[in-house]
Amino acid sequence: MKILSLESSCDETAAAVIEDGRKICSNVVNTQVAEHGLYGGVVPEIASRRHTENIVGVTEKALADAGVTLGDIDAVAVTAAPGLIGALLVGVSFAKGLSFAAGKPLIPVHHLRSHIAANYLAHPELEPPFLCLVVSGGHSHIVSVDGYTQFRILGRTRDDAAGEAFDKAARAMGLPYPGGVSLDQEAAKGDPKAFRLPKPHVEGCPLDMSFSGLKTAVVNLLHNAEQRGETVSIPDLCASYQNAVCHALVDRLMMAAEEGGYRTIVAAGGVSANSGLRALLDRECKRRHLRLFVPPLSLCGDNGAMVGSQAYYEALAGHFAGLDLNAAPSMAIDDEF
Ligand code: KG4
Ligand code: ZN
Repeated sequence: MKILSLESSCDETAAAVIEDGRKICSNVVNTQVAEHGLYGGVVPEIASRRHTENIVGVTEKALADAGVTLGDIDAVAVTAAPGLIGALLVGVSFAKGLSFAAGKPLIPVHHLRSHIAANYLAHPELEPPFLCLVVSGGHSHIVSVDGYTQFRILGRTRDDAAGEAFDKAARAMGLPYPGGVSLDQEAAKGDPKAFRLPKPHVEGCPLDMSFSGLKTAVVNLLHNAEQRGETVSIPDLCASYQNAVCHALVDRLMMAAEEGGYRTIVAAGGVSANSGLRALLDRECKRRHLRLFVPPLSLCGDNGAMVGSQAYYEALAGHFAGLDLNAAPSMAIDDEF
């Protein structure tokens, strides 16, 4: 089954052709990072406008790169939630138009399910059940992936997402957008033990996370140093902060793995590109003899290929939509369209 899949939930306009959920025939990503960088973050209205301008060209290129026409495609898939509503609506409206015009079934896909599915494209042997750390700009979840379309959230952030925590701290340190990537690069030059930062926990919910206190600690540390006329080593602060965020994530993930008897661990989402997180996951999984799968860096961020992978399994489960499909800015990963 060949699926044409579209992604426009944030600041990447992307399209791909995927065969049977596992084979990438084409994968085209047009990123708006440089333009949003001018404003220090994603400007939703600009994102929507760029998606509108780019989506036809990106889709045509995805079909051409795969050497197929719309007639060869078995279904059209699209990210329908969660994300920026104006951005999502561009992809959803376009996908509905294509589906109607070509007479092909329409498959709505949840963005976080797609991030998890990025791993199926890179690791043919990976199959549910497994335990997954889903860390993106908007979400931080510990998810039990019981089947390709069955999910249970075991832990979640109570405030900022991990990506947001990286981006906000980077901004406070004066690092360029996108903050997570800059912070990761600075951290590589610093000492993770240079600064003592709080170890946030949520009373009564050991698998839940909280990052706003950590971010505030960094902001306060910078302000206090400024008032005293002292300079702060940014690489050391980045390394210490990254270490604290990664431990908050991985310590809980390992606790969930132990409690649930999971043998396979997976990471997904934009933050799974973080080098500190990948190293810590590797170390802790090896120590416990757990199998670890992380997406290749090329599939960590938003792309159309991951949408096409998850869409295949949604199709097998009979999860199609009609032309009344709407986009939703928020939706739980265990909800159905
Ligand atoms: O999954 P994603 O591309 O978009 C959303 O669905 O949100 O994730 C974007 C997030 C941003 O917050 C970005 O700063 C973060 O992923 N990110 C990183 C790294 N690369 C991207 N955070 C830390 N280290 C990285 N290397
Ligand atoms: Zn994403």
